[in-house]
Amino acid sequence: MRQIIEGIVVTGDQRGRELGFPTANVLVDENQVASSEGVFAGYVTRADGTIYASAISVGRRPTFYADTAQCLVEAHLLDFAGDLYGEHLIVEIVEHVRSQERFESVDELIDQIREDVANVRAIATLPRS
Ligand SMILES: Cc1cc2nc3c(=O)[nH]c(=O)nc-3n(C[C@H](O)[C@H](O)[C@H](O)COP(=O)(O)O)c2cc1C
Repeated sequence: MRQIIEGIVVTGDQRGRELGFPTANVLVDENQVASSEGVFAGYVTRADGTIYASAISVGRRPTFYADTAQCLVEAHLLDFAGDLYGEHLIVEIVEHVRSQERFESVDELIDQIREDVANVRAIATLPRS
């Protein structure tokens, strides 16, 4: 189920940093998102051509918003620290990891994302084949 999504990184709620898993929020047309909502393993290619294994969330952040129409594509780039705002990214979705969930606490979400990242590391290996 490989899918490519491209777009510019926009400012999100800036909560990802607090959670310990900063994400690049990629601005996309709703109709560019053929995948259903979920958490995915994949790769992000930066404007300079560098590639990062990434944990990708496609969804509406149900832990924080009870009812929102906005579906976001967010990528946490593994082993990357820096600023991506305004940059054009190519996001490649490779494998579905799990469904979006509404967690009772932020700590539960953090524990789950930690596990997601470990799973992504095993799936999205580098250098990519
Ligand atoms: C790998 C990964 C998995 C995620 N899974 C969920 C989820 O199951 N439920 C949820 O409400 N949000 C999930 N999120 C989204 C986070 O809620 C979101 O990244 C965080 O609130 C920061 O949002 P911001 O970038 O707008 O500040 C996930 C994010 C990542 C990177």
